[in-house]
Amino acid sequence: MSLVQMIDQSASTAAAFADRPDEQRSVNRSVEMSMRRVLVVDDEESIRRAIGKFLKTRGFEVVTAQSGDEALLQLGQQGFVLMLCDVRMPGLSGVDVVPRALQLDSELAIMMLTAVNDAPTATESLSQGAMDYLMKPVELADLEVAIERALHKRALLIEQRRVERMIREEVAQRTEELEREKDTLRNLTVSVAETLINAMEVKDVYLRGHSQRVAELAASIADELGMTPDTVEQVRLAGRLHDVGKIGTREAVLNKPGTLTPDEFDHVKEHVRIGMDILAPLKHLGEALTFVQDHHEHWDGKGYPRGLDRDRISIGGRILAAADAFDALTSKRAYREPMQPEETIQFLEGHVGRLLDPDVYAALRRVVSRRKTLTFIDP
Ligand SMILES: [Fe+2]
Ligand SMILES: [Fe+2]
Repeated sequence: MSLVQMIDQSASTAAAFADRPDEQRSVNRSVEMSMRRVLVVDDEESIRRAIGKFLKTRGFEVVTAQSGDEALLQLGQQGFVLMLCDVRMPGLSGVDVVPRALQLDSELAIMMLTAVNDAPTATESLSQGAMDYLMKPVELADLEVAIERALHKRALLIEQRRVERMIREEVAQRTEELEREKDTLRNLTVSVAETLINAMEVKDVYLRGHSQRVAELAASIADELGMTPDTVEQVRLAGRLHDVGKIGTREAVLNKPGTLTPDEFDHVKEHVRIGMDILAPLKHLGEALTFVQDHHEHWDGKGYPRGLDRDRISIGGRILAAADAFDALTSKRAYREPMQPEETIQFLEGHVGRLLDPDVYAALRRVVSRRKTLTFIDP
């Protein structure tokens, strides 16, 4: 039986079904399917006609195209659920049509019709996004099964994409909410901590503005070292909080002009531990907490509180140590005048490898020379 004969027979069977009331389910199915439009692309008219006719008996609305260009034109004009596309055609080949068709409609199911000796080309079209291929001459029973399979696959893909989109949107929305909450909490905590710092700095005119200046300078050094914007902000935050523990330092020691006795120095050292006690519950401050803890560590391991050395000290801690030393030297003290920035940089060079990380010092030097005069908030 030829393809056309088979189609004719199928068509009459389907028409007979539709006339019988006991085949209502089958008719309903046809109605449902008629909402689906199929594009049949083949340069051979007999094939277009035969397949078109068969698909109509199965309740599909059929549009035909005799070339790849015409198919793309049709796809641009109206929606289709499925495209049956010949591989070998004059002009655009079926393989060329596949990606362009999917660009026009990413949900389109595509099935290739291919000659027996053209399997490699058919496989290529699969890698371009076609769902399946059928060998010509096409058995109508196979065609119907393959179309159902392709449409089922298409429906699953659409559903999967819809669910993925929903999940993506949901995740994005929740992340945004969480980020906002985290930001609010973080800002609140930082303002509380800053209030503490302001209260403390008010007690000591020489400390006034110190935390903010250290924060700005440390952030500039971090940026100069090529750290990520996130880390730069963590360093800035740590700078603002680094001396919060001085709230526990006795005023007499805090304001004492001149050198401290060993006992007084031990007492001052406590400000790191006290600061950590104050900040430790604020886990969301992240690595800024470690930076605060390390701000008095020395490159040679002779600092406190843990006596860490070299890169065992967090990078934020090493940066804060440099910024802290620079700010202390360039600030006025009861017992001495402030040092000039250039002079301070020269002075600190003698501390590279002992107090300071050589790379951090080099970055500090570049930042200071570039900014020439550093703007102090409260000179
Ligand atoms: Fe400190
Ligand atoms: Fe400090």
